[in-house]
Amino acid sequence: MSAEQAARTTEKGLQKPLDGHYFHRPDVFEREQRFLFRDSWLCAGHASEASQLGDYFTRTLGREPLLFVRTKSGIKGYFNVCRHRGTRLVADECGRAAKNFQCPYHAWTYSLNGSLIGAPRMKGAKGYDPEQLSLLEVPTQEWNGFVFFKLGAGGHHHVHEQLDDFPDISPYGCEDLVSTSRRIYQVSANWKLLCQNYGECYHCALVHPQLNDISNYLSGGDQESGECFVGGPMKLNRGYNTLNMTGNTERGNLPGIDAQLRRPADNRERDFERGVFFYNIYPNLLLSLHRDYVLSHTLWPTGPETTTIICDWLFHQDQVQQPDFEDRSEVEFWHLTNQQDWNICEQTHIGVRSSGYQPVTYHAGESCLAEFDRWYLETLCRTE
Ligand code: FES
Ligand SMILES: [Fe+2]
Repeated sequence: MSAEQAARTTEKGLQKPLDGHYFHRPDVFEREQRFLFRDSWLCAGHASEASQLGDYFTRTLGREPLLFVRTKSGIKGYFNVCRHRGTRLVADECGRAAKNFQCPYHAWTYSLNGSLIGAPRMKGAKGYDPEQLSLLEVPTQEWNGFVFFKLGAGGHHHVHEQLDDFPDISPYGCEDLVSTSRRIYQVSANWKLLCQNYGECYHCALVHPQLNDISNYLSGGDQESGECFVGGPMKLNRGYNTLNMTGNTERGNLPGIDAQLRRPADNRERDFERGVFFYNIYPNLLLSLHRDYVLSHTLWPTGPETTTIICDWLFHQDQVQQPDFEDRSEVEFWHLTNQQDWNICEQTHIGVRSSGYQPVTYHAGESCLAEFDRWYLETLCRTE
């Protein structure tokens, strides 16, 4: 426990929320960007976003523009920065490159593997060596079908080490899912408030009546936490079988869940049928596992007081190919829930940046937030 964290523990053992300055001060944001985000494996998105050779997608982390592209040897990541004079190479959110990327400024051209393969009238120029002018690579690795990347040299060498103690989610078969819908949100709130909001359902009865009708806000199960995650299950109320606008669907389970349910009840690790599992995978992935689909949110802080959130609805590729497949009800449900969450987080952001905010203590149902704060403070302090 860090000294700062110890000072936040009240006499009753409850932990005080973070002080307000953590949520708006530019110097805190800079420190997070330089240390916490650079030396963690971060989720770029789901691998199905770039399933064919040349498929690419772009992201922005703080002031770092990034490009991810499917090559013959898997998905590779690069700084989305031209080696000539630094222009952002690709502006589109996603697309398919026929063979290469051409800078829109002076037409320097790079292969999918990042090599500089063309630079008009540069041959013979002093100091020009195309061998030394490949796009700068950002290491990428896959974990359960999601693409992770790391900008800095610190932290774990492999994403599997960072998530070594994460529970087995293989029954959800995330690598066989595809994103069928996406919403991108610009939220005027610090990224940590969004993580903390995700980690508790104390707010659900008031903020999400449609969610509370299907999964009671007190139905949360045992908290699970590890070095780089916190989360746990919520239960569906009796009579409901998923989270969507009606709480029911004809859609079957994901194949791996079916396999689990064929096992004797006392031989199953989890209540896959009634449990919906929510995990905050530090620092930027929120993963919500339903028995028939998966929802992912990736967080992209754009400043101390603003965050871009990319939300994807992921279904099994076989289900998606069914002629009657549709995800409207699930999209409507979570889009509504998202908007309710972002709105309340924006209101919280306004409050916590005020000198009138004096943190006292968390509610017992907010233990995941205390755990998140532990990780956050330890990680930041480790870098001092
Ligand atoms: S900045 Fe890219 S080609 Fe000049
Ligand atoms: Fe919420």
